[in-house]
Amino acid sequence: LSAGPLQGRRVLVTSGPTHEPVDPVRYIANRSSGAQGAAIARALAALGAEVVFVTGPASVPPPGGVAVVCVETAREMLAAVEAALPVEAAVFAAAVADWHVAGASARKLKKDAGGLANLEFAENPDILARVAGMKKGRPRLVVGFAAETDNVVENATAKRARKGCDWILANDVRHETGIMGGAENAVTLITGEGVETWPRMGKDQVARQLAGRIAAALA
Ligand code: C5P
Repeated sequence: LSAGPLQGRRVLVTSGPTHEPVDPVRYIANRSSGAQGAAIARALAALGAEVVFVTGPASVPPPGGVAVVCVETAREMLAAVEAALPVEAAVFAAAVADWHVAGASARKLKKDAGGLANLEFAENPDILARVAGMKKGRPRLVVGFAAETDNVVENATAKRARKGCDWILANDVRHETGIMGGAENAVTLITGEGVETWPRMGKDQVARQLAGRIAAALA
């Protein structure tokens, strides 16, 4: 058995959506299936990495051979990520909700209680930006995703700078692409060196290609 190129290297992958509770029975979520994140974790593990997989409530099962940490909300995901550090590389594939309901109700909101429920929102922590901005113990390689519907490369390039991550994988999630929740992905990798558009391929193939690049970057 030959050791893979990531043997002994600790890496982190976030994946899936987050669920932000409204009350004990309702939540706000998004359409992320967790398929791309799970594929990335599997591909990194296949190269020998010791993978911590922090996942929201995804619709695909987590891969085998990784340490799975299940969370529900963005705030729980941040805590799990912080607990997993230090790592050499971190891939933030989760579709984290931007907001949570401020003061979510401990009781079920009733329709007949008079009028519409009046929800107030508060911003969630930006997990990727926090880790990318760490002064001490920052992973050597921080990879973010940018799910965009318009001006994909421009927006993703700006996002890379704003978040302070090393690489951004941009994908076009317009409904007609079938990417969100689908088996394929069409990504553009944006690094400090430039912009690379990869052909449309299976999410598992995107994952293997990314894992190979990560191994080369950490070597
Ligand atoms: O800002 P936006 O949500 O488009 O950024 C997407 C990238 O940031 C993804 O890599 C996602 O995992 C990460 N992110 C995060 N925490 C948030 C929001 C996004 O880690 N609260």
